[in-house]
Amino acid sequence: MADRVRIYEVGPRDGLQNESVAVTLEAKVEFIERLVAAGLREIEATSFVSPKAIPQLADADELLPRLPAVPGVRYPVLVPNERGMDRAEAAGAGALAVFTAATDAFTERNIGMTIAGSLEAARPVLARAGALGWWRRGYVSTAFGCPFTGAVAPGRAVDVALALLDLGVDEVCYGDTIGVGVPNQVQALVDASTAAGVPLDRIAFHFHDTRGTALANVLAGLAAGIRCFDASAGGTGGCPYAPGAAGNLATEDLVYLLDASGYEHGVRLDGVLEAARFAAAALGRPLASKVGQAGGWDPTTGAATGRRMGLGTPTGSP
Ligand code: HMG
Ligand code: MG
Repeated sequence: MADRVRIYEVGPRDGLQNESVAVTLEAKVEFIERLVAAGLREIEATSFVSPKAIPQLADADELLPRLPAVPGVRYPVLVPNERGMDRAEAAGAGALAVFTAATDAFTERNIGMTIAGSLEAARPVLARAGALGWWRRGYVSTAFGCPFTGAVAPGRAVDVALALLDLGVDEVCYGDTIGVGVPNQVQALVDASTAAGVPLDRIAFHFHDTRGTALANVLAGLAAGIRCFDASAGGTGGCPYAPGAAGNLATEDLVYLLDASGYEHGVRLDGVLEAARFAAAALGRPLASKVGQAGGWDPTTGAATGRRMGLGTPTGSP
């Protein structure tokens, strides 16, 4: 049986939280429907954060009830505090992610708390979600480097991951928030995590592709035994509180790599390209990812696949 990888889609949340173009509720719902149709089974749908902090996702309460209930599909939502948990519960969420970081400087800019404060805010949220039987993830942002304090030693990220696991998360996700990481850091972080007793199947990685290292980092993660990676259809993404952060690894680039490398994941490249083009059109710009521009590739004919004219493809392409 082929090795199975989980692709955790963050386009509707991370992808849209930093955009200046307003995306309608209808377009968000359709984007997510297209992601489901492409085979994605974990789609981070939105955030129940302060609408003043992230106005782009202020419609979370209306969005969540509109998403298709499909067996096997979950829609985790970002929750920073109990107020967010109240809203998430009222909207019918069934999975969440809490978020903190490896550095106080970033955590304070992002959510106005120290790491310790953010863990205290997460404690009752995770307890309530646990009692409701929700799947729970905990993000450790700036695990590869901080825009305010620079290099981050793996041990600092692992300490925060251990604290989140103690609070009950099912999975920790190390974020390269500003896209500065390289493969040997991935290996070092996995080594430090496993040495501290964190099982490989409770670790995920979230790479922003700011400096073009995201796919290389995925390969390092795969080699180290990690089988869950975040990605955003169309390669959108970034955090308004992380200066210099650019888009997430594009889901279509990840799917191409995994397909051609023989990993099983259940996601159709053509479907992701459709969803990515839809998102690009909603944002009014061309699709910038590598595979979004080149298409896939059929080894039986040598031809590119999944390309089409219009927004999201280079002018004049077939
Ligand atoms: P604060 O201002 O320190 O908190 O914000 P507060 O408790 O003083 O509340 C201020 C106002 O917000 C009050 O309203 C509250 O009611 C309201 P006012 O009295 O002024 O009218 N409020 C809320 N409203 C709705 N939902 C809530 C909520 N909480 C308070 N949940 C807070 C603290 C955490 C709320 C704020 O800083 C915040 O929402 N930050 C969100 C930041 C964010 O979403 N960042 C992006 C996500 S993290 C990320 O992108 C990284 C990741 O992708 C991984 C990686 O790349 O590494 C995950
Ligand atoms: Mg992110």
